[in-house]
Amino acid sequence: MKLTLSVIKADIGGFVGHSSVHKEVVEKVREVAEDGKDRGIIRDVSILVCGDDIALVMTHTKGVDSSDVHELAWNAFKEGTEVSKKMKMYGAGQDLLADAFSGNVKGMGPGVAEMEFEERKSEPVVIFFADKTAPSAWNLPLYEIFADPMNTAGLVIDPSMHEGFIFDVMDVYTGMGIRLKAPEELYDLLVFIGATSRYVIRAVYRKSDEEIAASASTQRLSLMAGRYVGKDDPVLIVRAQSGFPAVGEILEPFARPWLVEGWMRGSHTGPLMPVSFKNAKPTRFDGPPRVIAAGYQITDGYLIGPSDLFDDPAFDEARRQCNNMADILRRQGIFEPHRLPPEEMEYTTLPKVLEKLKDRFKLVEAKK
Ligand code: F6R
Ligand code: MG
Ligand code: MG
Repeated sequence: MKLTLSVIKADIGGFVGHSSVHKEVVEKVREVAEDGKDRGIIRDVSILVCGDDIALVMTHTKGVDSSDVHELAWNAFKEGTEVSKKMKMYGAGQDLLADAFSGNVKGMGPGVAEMEFEERKSEPVVIFFADKTAPSAWNLPLYEIFADPMNTAGLVIDPSMHEGFIFDVMDVYTGMGIRLKAPEELYDLLVFIGATSRYVIRAVYRKSDEEIAASASTQRLSLMAGRYVGKDDPVLIVRAQSGFPAVGEILEPFARPWLVEGWMRGSHTGPLMPVSFKNAKPTRFDGPPRVIAAGYQITDGYLIGPSDLFDDPAFDEARRQCNNMADILRRQGIFEPHRLPPEEMEYTTLPKVLEKLKDRFKLVEAKK
């Protein structure tokens, strides 16, 4: 029987400001989600928190886009929002853009990553969850995990991965998608996924049997709401071992920090810092952006875990490098390239400031 793994996340209020979530809010969300187990909607649930976001990790047999499962998550977030509002948490209910549930949480604010598979003899998965960044933050690590033999030795050594992987890429502005194969279309793939402000990887499949290997949340809240409502703080599911990359190959890109968009006011470039669960609290300049890695063994549809995979001194050096990168970028203050380019600032609160000044512009040099 096929099992579905659904990860649905939202920011329903921050404690303090946008830095973390109050435990009473988390407990309400957990209570409603656990009730879904008793009602037979889901098999199991585990709750993760990263910064001001809560994720429901759920297993069930209803397939992806199940309205029952999405409704359960919606109700958990709705009831959590009530607690959040009562406690006057910051931005209570911020990601719930609609008043009532209508079939699927996609397009209603929460982020969703889902996949359906036949549970293997042993089914290890890694769930990444980031705060203060956007779904395109996964482009670089997904490329390294599934297409770069310098990162993933298994692409060279393991015959079941040797044929490569298929990347499902989407243009977030048009919703158009394209599937590209690695290694043979690597350079074409990089044309798109290197342009992180526009293209995101939705999923990755093993080429030999088209088995799902990874699935990411790809919604952009600002594009949905037409105004700035926080960054999208994405989730990513990656299956590990026996024909998929090893857990260590999946975590390896995070040992070498890179820059992502997000951070303060969703308007800055910053390093993505891999942290343990307890350090998933972005405070310096509302950041730097954080990512946690939660490992699970899925056993008969039950979630054994999470194991806090970045709670490892082997990632201390990456964290130190992130702090150095943060210092260098903060020196730029409000100047680009620390601040994002104008096209990205269109989706922040900046246009309201520009509006007031637009009539003061006079032609001073004719355009040829
Ligand atoms: C970024 C984020 C924060 C806020 C900032 C201002 O994703 O959530 O950096 O943008 O704290 O928040 P407001 O405008 O709510 O005062
Ligand atoms: Mg928030
Ligand atoms: Mg957040």
